[in-house]
Amino acid sequence: MDNRPIGFMDSGVGGLTVVKTAQKLLPNEEIIFIGDEARMPYGPRPTAEVVEFSRQMASFLITKNNIKALVIACNTATNAALAVLQAELPIPVIGVILPGAIAANRQTKNQKIGVIATLGTIKSEAYPKALAEINTKLRAYPVACQEFVEIAEKNELHTTAAQKVMNEKLAEFRQDQIDTLILGCTHFPLLEEGIQAAIGPDVTLVDPGVETVHQLIEILTKQALQHAEGPKAQDQYYSTGNIKNFEEIARTFLNQDLRVEEVKID
Ligand code: DGL
Repeated sequence: MDNRPIGFMDSGVGGLTVVKTAQKLLPNEEIIFIGDEARMPYGPRPTAEVVEFSRQMASFLITKNNIKALVIACNTATNAALAVLQAELPIPVIGVILPGAIAANRQTKNQKIGVIATLGTIKSEAYPKALAEINTKLRAYPVACQEFVEIAEKNELHTTAAQKVMNEKLAEFRQDQIDTLILGCTHFPLLEEGIQAAIGPDVTLVDPGVETVHQLIEILTKQALQHAEGPKAQDQYYSTGNIKNFEEIARTFLNQDLRVEEVKID
């Protein structure tokens, strides 16, 4: 048993989609989330910079909150910094890309898998590589949709303008006959309805956060790190900026009367 909290980090509100799954599947665990709103988006940034920012966020969670495990609830940061943080930190560190690829491989029937993600994740080819490692028969169809991050951050999920952007971007898949689409940015499950409407009902959306939380459960069980049954401390939310907007999105999406605390990180 280990009653320390689990840390989750992202560039912004996207990581909350992984937190929501964790709160559902791991109700006994205390969660500390930090979003790097002051420096988001991460997608267009150079890899080295994302590595440095990820180090700083992880260090905040470890030194201030004494976390027992870290979930990089961001695909861009997973691609840039997972191996680095796994090597440097004394606690288990888990990312979202491999779990996303595993879930998509399980889901697809025709082996044609679309991937939408940030500029950085698409440029790195992290998903095509992960899919190829799991199953050489899989074909990946990657499309960068950095614009979707802004839609989520502005909380404009259901506007006509947002739907138009989603329709236009996802039209790129029209010829590909994909049957599965990986939401390869943790912001994208916030846009799930619009994405599904744009891509059509025959394509199954995969949220890598779900498989990530299942892998987290496995790690906690194997390493005897689970929180004891019974009462736990309240989950905590931090952001490096944009507090009001962040708090509003978090409250609506997680359906909780939560507070977000501003922190300085550098
Ligand atoms: N939510 C992040 C991801 O999963 C990144 C969004 C951004 O900051 O560009 O990649």
